[in-house]
Amino acid sequence: MADVQRPRVFVARVIPDEGLAAVSAVCEMDLWDGELPPPRSELLRRVAGCDGVMTLLTDRVDDEFLDAAGPQLKVVSNYAVGFDNIDLEACARRGIPVGNTPGVLTETTADLAWALLMAAARRLPEGDRYVRDGRWKTWGPLLLLGPDVHGATIGIVGFGRIGQAMARRAQGFGMEILYHDVNRLPEAVSSPLGATYVPLEDLLGRSDFVTLHVNLTPETRHLISDSTLALMKPTAVLVNTSRGPVVDQPALARALREGTIWAAGLDVTDPEPIPLEDPLMGLDNCLIVPHIASASRATRGRMAAMAAANLVAGVFGEPLPTRVPVPA
Ligand code: DGY
Repeated sequence: MADVQRPRVFVARVIPDEGLAAVSAVCEMDLWDGELPPPRSELLRRVAGCDGVMTLLTDRVDDEFLDAAGPQLKVVSNYAVGFDNIDLEACARRGIPVGNTPGVLTETTADLAWALLMAAARRLPEGDRYVRDGRWKTWGPLLLLGPDVHGATIGIVGFGRIGQAMARRAQGFGMEILYHDVNRLPEAVSSPLGATYVPLEDLLGRSDFVTLHVNLTPETRHLISDSTLALMKPTAVLVNTSRGPVVDQPALARALREGTIWAAGLDVTDPEPIPLEDPLMGLDNCLIVPHIASASRATRGRMAAMAAANLVAGVFGEPLPTRVPVPA
C-alpha cells in the first residue's frame, strides 16, 4: 500500500540510478520504464494527482499537462538544461517552479560539438563508409580532402556556458574566435577566451566553422535560414548541438546540396527523430547523430542527481537548487 506521508511523483523515463535512488528514497515514485516517451494520453493519466513530475525534453508541459496533473502539483523538474518543452508562463501562472540541469553538461556537450566539427571537416563518416564499402584501394593524394580546423576562424552563436567552452577548445587549435550573443560579454570575460564580439551577419560571413549554442526561443527559431545561410562561406561547416528548430532544415538541405555551405554536423534535428526520407539523410556532407551531446556516463549521472534534487526540494516545498528563472 502506498505510504500516504510520502509525496507522489511521476518520473517520465528511466534515468541513471543517481537520480532514481534519491527520488525513490523519499517519494512514492511512479516510473515510466518504456524506451520511448510515454504516449500523451498515458502521460496525462499518470501525472494526475502527483506532487511532482520529472520530465524529459520529449514531454510537453503545457496547460493541458498541468490541468491533468491537478492543483496539488508543486514542481516540474526537467532532466535537461534546455526547457523549450515547458510552457514557463503556464507554470508561473500556477506558481509551479521549474528545475533544469545547467552547468553539469557544459563540457560534455562542447566535447560532442567539437567532435562533430572535426568529423564533418575531416569527413570521418564518409571515410569510414569508404573503408567498409571496400572502396579503399590505395593512398590517394586527392582522397577525402577537407578544410583545416587549426588556424581557421570559428563563429560561436550563443556565448553562454557551452559557447564559452567551445571557445576554450578553439584556443587550443589556434583559431580566430568570433562570437555573437544577444548579451555582449564584458571584455574582462571575452578577452581571456580570445573571443571577439561581432554582429551575426559578420560572424556568418567570416567564419569557417559556425557553431550554434542558443536556447530555442521565438527569436532563435530558424535563425539559420535561406537568408543567413547565404551569408556563409561556400567552404563553411555548420554545427548544431542546440535545438533542431534553430535551423530551417529544408533550407539547410538546399544549402548543402547546392554548395552554399560545405558541410554540417548535427546533434539535433527538427523533428526528432529525423524521418528517413528527410532530404538531409541522403547527403554525404551532412553528419547526424541522435541528440547525444550530453551522453557521457558521468554527465548523465550528474544530470540525474541534479534533476532529483530539484524534484525532491520542490515536493517538500523547498527552493529548487537550480530553478529556471520565471519569465518577466
Ligand atoms: C539538454 O540538456 O537540454 C540537452 O539537449 C540534452 O542533454
